[in-house]
Amino acid sequence: MARRPMLAGNWKMFGTRSLTKELVTACAAAARAEPERDVLIAPPYTLLAYARELIGDAPVLLSAQDVHWEAKGAFTGEVSCDMLKEVGCTHVIIGHSERRQFFGETDASVADRTAAVLAAGMTPIVCVGETLQERESGRTEAVIERQVRGGLAKIDAGAIARTIVAYEPVWAIGTGKVATPEQAQEVHAQIRGLLAGLGGRADEVRILYGGSVKPDNVDQLMAQADIDGALVGGASLQADGFTRIVRFLR
Ligand code: PGA
Repeated sequence: MARRPMLAGNWKMFGTRSLTKELVTACAAAARAEPERDVLIAPPYTLLAYARELIGDAPVLLSAQDVHWEAKGAFTGEVSCDMLKEVGCTHVIIGHSERRQFFGETDASVADRTAAVLAAGMTPIVCVGETLQERESGRTEAVIERQVRGGLAKIDAGAIARTIVAYEPVWAIGTGKVATPEQAQEVHAQIRGLLAGLGGRADEVRILYGGSVKPDNVDQLMAQADIDGALVGGASLQADGFTRIVRFLR
């Protein structure tokens, strides 16, 4: 079945109000030019409200980069799903490898966040990916299986179709070392098989690739059968480059 491509920009801890204005303007134009594709931006928390205001009625989706699973409480520094919804977010990135690596994110906390985002009526973008050491020691498949099963452990099979998965090999993030289209396709196909095994309507789930996606490699990646989009870090901060990524294979 045809899955609607998604081109997502993860701004990480970058961005100012002026850059937000420039990027939202470019994304709005690109999204209008490609009505069959989803364009999504994930600015830092402090820029979400401003981005939402700038988006107006343009078909640009707004995502947060993380969320807490509790509805409210004494959790200094955290934000809840309802807070993100109030500011206009429809998507939340969960379990990014930088959260796993630097902030103690585990498969169990990914599962809590994913369940909370779905319960709030938003869409989680659940990130998985192996480190270089794991790949070189032949453990990629096992790591991906553990992360996919673990991250989706608290949702029922019916909710799988409402999630997005992002495969982001850690060794390809911010390194300029992109996975070959074949390497990425192999893991994407594995992930789709896992989702089917969990009872989900796997052919409806979008699986994004992330890790050094650039204007000059997006076409080959997007030509793969199971790559349904891209989660883009560095290149999403450049209006021209991200516009080109949205217009892949044109
Ligand atoms: P990158 O980041 O495109 O800068 O490699 C991707 C990501 O971490 O989502």
